[in-house]
Amino acid sequence: MNKNSRIYVAGHTGLIGSALLRLLKREGCSHILTRTHTGLDLTNQKAVDRFFTKEKPQYVFLAAARVGGIHANKTYPAEFIYQNLMIQTNVIDCALKYKAKKLLLLSSSCIYPIKSPQPMKEAVLFSGDIEETNDAFGMAKLTGIKMCQAYHRQYGANFISVIPANVYGPGDHFDENGHVLAALIEKFHQAHQRNKKWVTLWGTGKPKREFLYVEDAAEGCVFLMKKYHQPDPINLGIGRETSITQLARLVQSTVGFRGQLKFDTAKPDGNLRRLLDSRKIHALGWRAGVSLENGLQRTYDWYRKHLDGKVK
Ligand SMILES: NC(=O)c1ccc[n+]([C@@H]2O[C@H](COP(=O)([O-])OP(=O)(O)OC[C@H]3O[C@@H](n4cnc5c(N)ncnc54)[C@H](OP(=O)(O)O)[C@@H]3O)[C@@H](O)[C@H]2O)c1
Repeated sequence: MNKNSRIYVAGHTGLIGSALLRLLKREGCSHILTRTHTGLDLTNQKAVDRFFTKEKPQYVFLAAARVGGIHANKTYPAEFIYQNLMIQTNVIDCALKYKAKKLLLLSSSCIYPIKSPQPMKEAVLFSGDIEETNDAFGMAKLTGIKMCQAYHRQYGANFISVIPANVYGPGDHFDENGHVLAALIEKFHQAHQRNKKWVTLWGTGKPKREFLYVEDAAEGCVFLMKKYHQPDPINLGIGRETSITQLARLVQSTVGFRGQLKFDTAKPDGNLRRLLDSRKIHALGWRAGVSLENGLQRTYDWYRKHLDGKVK
């Protein structure tokens, strides 16, 4: 991939897609292809085919997906499986048909078996049941990986799958159904604005999660697009965990909330650990560059500028 390559970022208005777009522009790529969801519905096979016939992208970042929180996944499993299978099938097949040199599929860490030993190695994928709350979404994502592998096996296609840790940053979804870090920013910010005496969090605060700043996620993807050419999926993480309590304290101090932190221990905790084993990508020479403190501050600055008072 070079500055003159025709590069398609599918899902360029989303959290990761928009960071990819910013990065590719910063790197001076002159031929970036994008379409909005309304301009090109990727579940529509004919429309996707027309787009590929016309634009013939050489490199494809597949960051478009129907994503959502636990509630949405539980309520709309049919939409999640149908739309994600369609998006992946249409884009992957057209990438082959129109001779893209490479495709990078963004997968998700929720596809790891619930009982995976920690940290989660790529080799344990497909070895057990995945989380029931997002099994429809997860099955579509697992199928995406199998498609990339099958296209590699039969046609030698250079299609790779990447599994990022929990991504956060500017452009995130800050409502209570969003990702944990963004939801905490919204919660603490609102409590601060309203001079509340405390903030209550679900569970014990003990579960640990791994957080990857979105600009690092984009850099990791571009790095893998250039350097990784295997059909086996690869994790993209920082290799460090933060407990929900530690995260809440960090968000609290970033926002400047002086009240108390309480835990509703009657509420479920979920998995205690979900750490990716990122030794494979680290061995290739990639490391995340943005600390959680710094990424959090940048995310909060963005939130205040763009969304303060607008999140419902
Ligand atoms: N965020 C994370 O923590 C994280 C972590 C690991 C993996 N991932 C994976 O990375 C990918 C991107 O995630 P994200 O957080 O960036 O998601 P996002 O912010 O929700 O963005 C999804 C993008 O896909 C577009 N899209 C959805 N359905 C479409 C369709 N039928 N046709 C065309 N475009 C469509 C959306 O456009 P509209 O908004 O206009 O619908 C949006 O641009 C997903 O596969 C996700 O599973 C995310």
